[in-house]
Amino acid sequence: MKTVGTFAAARDLTAGVVGLVPTMGFLHEGHLALVDAARRECDTVVMSLFVNPLQFDETRDLSRYPRDPDRDAHLAGERGVDVLFAPELEEMYPRRQITRVRVSDVTEELEGRFRPGHFEGVTTVVAKLLAGTRADRAYFGRKDAQQLATVTRMAFDLSMPVEVVPVSIVRESDGLALSSRNVFLSPEERDRALRISVGLMAAAGAAEDGECSAEELELIVAGYLGDLEVDYVTLADADSVEPARRLEQDAFLAVAAHAGNTRLIDNVFFRVTSAGTEADRGNRLEGPSILYGGR
Ligand code: PAF
Repeated sequence: MKTVGTFAAARDLTAGVVGLVPTMGFLHEGHLALVDAARRECDTVVMSLFVNPLQFDETRDLSRYPRDPDRDAHLAGERGVDVLFAPELEEMYPRRQITRVRVSDVTEELEGRFRPGHFEGVTTVVAKLLAGTRADRAYFGRKDAQQLATVTRMAFDLSMPVEVVPVSIVRESDGLALSSRNVFLSPEERDRALRISVGLMAAAGAAEDGECSAEELELIVAGYLGDLEVDYVTLADADSVEPARRLEQDAFLAVAAHAGNTRLIDNVFFRVTSAGTEADRGNRLEGPSILYGGR
């Protein structure tokens, strides 16, 4: 693996079908699952590692975002990344960024209500990463379901020659969705945070057994959340991200809640066909995550 800091150097190292795995670092098995998917389907795998200030609505959140570039480089190389693109701020934003990419509609509900400007920051940086690396395929986790829908729509609307590839959520062995922010949870907060995935798994079972009412599915999840401070529990259409009343086409049931000072999001994706509803519950690790010390 080669580590480079400029788009030009990254492009010089690519050949054939280029797969991009965009990350903000502090890697966990969720990121590595994106690498695995890219490795299977692409000739060159580029991982970007850049904590993008444009997408943070609170400066405190940006400054406390966990970072460990040496560990990231080790993990990425070991997993089969060919090119690690780790730019400085000056490479990504050499001048004041007056061009922004804003996707409407899809960004307005769920996270859009709580994180003003966040998606504009994401789509602006992802557009730059796609253009700068000339990626043919780009890999995004289903955990950030609204981000996935937004980037997919951006690529479509702007006729970008890239395929956006979704990858299932990776969960810790007890069900907690992997997130770099999990390292901030105290044992007690982590216990309470677990209720989110337990509630989602219960709703997934109900949906597969034929429950189609969004209200019922949302109530099932809410019943597990106890005293967590909840921003939303919403069934949303997978493409438009509009709240759905019934589970009649592909959708995701999403939760955002706070455990202490840490805001967590999670969801279950539902594929709806004439044969019925199938829930993508994600994949569970067998042992402890590399987030907790292991490489
Ligand atoms: O999902 C993330 O880690 C970020 O939003 C992304 C896609 C790398 C853009 O900064």
